[in-house]
Amino acid sequence: MRNLSLNAPVLTIDGPSGAGKGTVSRLVAKTLGWHYLDSGSIYRSLAIAVQKKMIDLADVKAIVSVAEAMVLEFECGDELIVTLNGEDITHQLGLEATGSIASQVAVLPEVRQVLLQKQKDFRQLPGLVADGRDMGTVVFPDAENKVFLTASAEKRAERRYKQLIEKEIDANLARITSEIEARDRRDMDRETAPLAMAKEALYIDSSDMPITAVIEEVLNLIR
Ligand code: C5P
Repeated sequence: MRNLSLNAPVLTIDGPSGAGKGTVSRLVAKTLGWHYLDSGSIYRSLAIAVQKKMIDLADVKAIVSVAEAMVLEFECGDELIVTLNGEDITHQLGLEATGSIASQVAVLPEVRQVLLQKQKDFRQLPGLVADGRDMGTVVFPDAENKVFLTASAEKRAERRYKQLIEKEIDANLARITSEIEARDRRDMDRETAPLAMAKEALYIDSSDMPITAVIEEVLNLIR
């Protein structure tokens, strides 16, 4: 079964937070009838598990044990529903604080090693769209199709701000911009699996593109 799955085609979509990877990946997966891996939600789930157990972020051993023990279930409908050890954590996943802690545990090579197989297991027929930071470089280096999707920090912050306001969550544009820039730096500067473009990836800057145009460009790559 695993051998068969290893033959499943993979499209990787990497890039910084807020570039539109989630929306694009979900819609492309839906159009193709492929599975979808939101790898950020795995790091975010670990962040939530670590917070729940009140583990110090300097305690690498404890973080690794939590990562090893975590049982995650993903239900991919219109919205991604995630349960962690049987508890629905969907509403906590999108919080800015969760993303910030996720990027702090994500710098740990031991953590990335534990989470590697969990991500590879998503490679199932008829195919997989994998969204993250190191999908094309580390997790699925042999993927047939790779995209690097980015946008300026200002545009990404504006989009995030609008999303929060629409959800009636209090938000501050200047603070979101500086949080996004801090997370970018942490993701790009870390030693293990930093955010980087695979050399064969298609580069798309979505700053001034409607999401429909981005999706079209990605689908053209597959077709
Ligand atoms: O994409 P998202 O914002 O959900 O990811 C949260 C954090 O998880 C990122 O800032 C990054 O530090 C980490 N991450 C990662 N590798 C991935 C996906 C996410 O290091 N493949």
